Amino acid sequence: MSKIMNATPSSVAPTSGLEGIAAADTALSQVLGQAGELVIAGTPLHQFVAQQTFDEAIQTLWSIAGSDLTLEAENVAHARALAFENIEKLQPVLKGLSPAEGLRLCLSSLSGSNASDAPVLLVSAMPVFAANVARLADGHALVAPDLKTNTAACFLGMLHNRAPSQGEINALDTYLSTVCDHGMNASTFTARVIASTQADFVSAIVGAYGALTGPLHGGAPEPVLDMLDSIGTADNAAHWIDAELARGERLMGFGHRVYRVRDPRADVLAGALKELGAEGPRYGLARAVERCALETLQRHKPDRVLETNVEFYTALLLDALHIPRAAFTPVFAVGRVAGWTAHCIEQQRIGRLIRPSANYIGTPVKAPQDLSV
Ligand code: ACO
Repeated sequence: MSKIMNATPSSVAPTSGLEGIAAADTALSQVLGQAGELVIAGTPLHQFVAQQTFDEAIQTLWSIAGSDLTLEAENVAHARALAFENIEKLQPVLKGLSPAEGLRLCLSSLSGSNASDAPVLLVSAMPVFAANVARLADGHALVAPDLKTNTAACFLGMLHNRAPSQGEINALDTYLSTVCDHGMNASTFTARVIASTQADFVSAIVGAYGALTGPLHGGAPEPVLDMLDSIGTADNAAHWIDAELARGERLMGFGHRVYRVRDPRADVLAGALKELGAEGPRYGLARAVERCALETLQRHKPDRVLETNVEFYTALLLDALHIPRAAFTPVFAVGRVAGWTAHCIEQQRIGRLIRPSANYIGTPVKAPQDLSV
């Protein structure tokens, strides 16, 4: 399990982490932290997810960003086939890498062209790479993509090397739509900074993906399952959680920079689990751990609202779909690449370099002059 210590070294001045600072204008999504509402494409999350599939959601986001790109079947098939050719060639160097590392390598292998169809290439290649790096990490052979199915079916078909059920496809599709965009989160900000330099799309997405992999962002669901395994039974939860917090650790799947109430995505994913009929024994344990964690966190940090975030239910849903836990972050990227590409399109239309300033806290110079480069 990844360990995240609470303490800030005393020599380091506490910084804001840009909390509450608007870094861009966007029409793509809005996170209403106090209300616990996420609005995507002008529609509350519950409705957004119910009204369209993930593949439709991608096009909706691109259209709002100002692009008329669509997921033409022929272009998607071409991009999936190209991605599979790339991963076949990369197979020897992927040996020994985790799925998260493997996906980074595969993404970098795409041509860095700034062509207008780069977003189609990226959203189509992502499931091919994510499913196959997970297979390789588990010692299985590569599986070629179905060139005609939607993203969720294509991913599951490769990962499990069998045709997924409609229930499984629906559950993953709901997950992908739920995480497709989320305001100015760390990875989206990274994508926009890179796009603002007029670097190519692939570079922007590789950078964004790197930001996603950290446990304070998209790397949390794997440790959530580790936590549940480690707790083992509901009556061990209070003792385990107290000990963890006493050691200065954070509980994975709880807390959020913007939400001050429950993350609305958690409820949508809990609904998808129910529809999948996957509320088994692990689900019962998870609900007990969640209740205990919320009570304990309230006592531990009475001045800070620490509620369940999206990653807690992500872990349960992806586990119920038999996705290996080491592949959870790559699967997150399959969904979030929709938002990343849309933000890059939006940023390129704005066309202004993102270049903030910093508070200099180093040794002062005697004759003050502007030494910044
Ligand atoms: N468990 C225990 N304590 C916590 C937790 C947690 N999960 N989250 C925050 N706190 C504590 C912090 O230690 C801090 O205490 P302090 O003031 O005594 O130092 C206080 O609450 C405020 O925390 P910040 O770090 O200022 O909150 P921030 O807004 O930066 O953090 C974050 C948000 C990173 C998500 C945090 O809540 C966290 O680390 N959660 C666990 C990891 C996680 O679930 N990540 C997935 C996030 S969702 C996503 O990105 C898709």
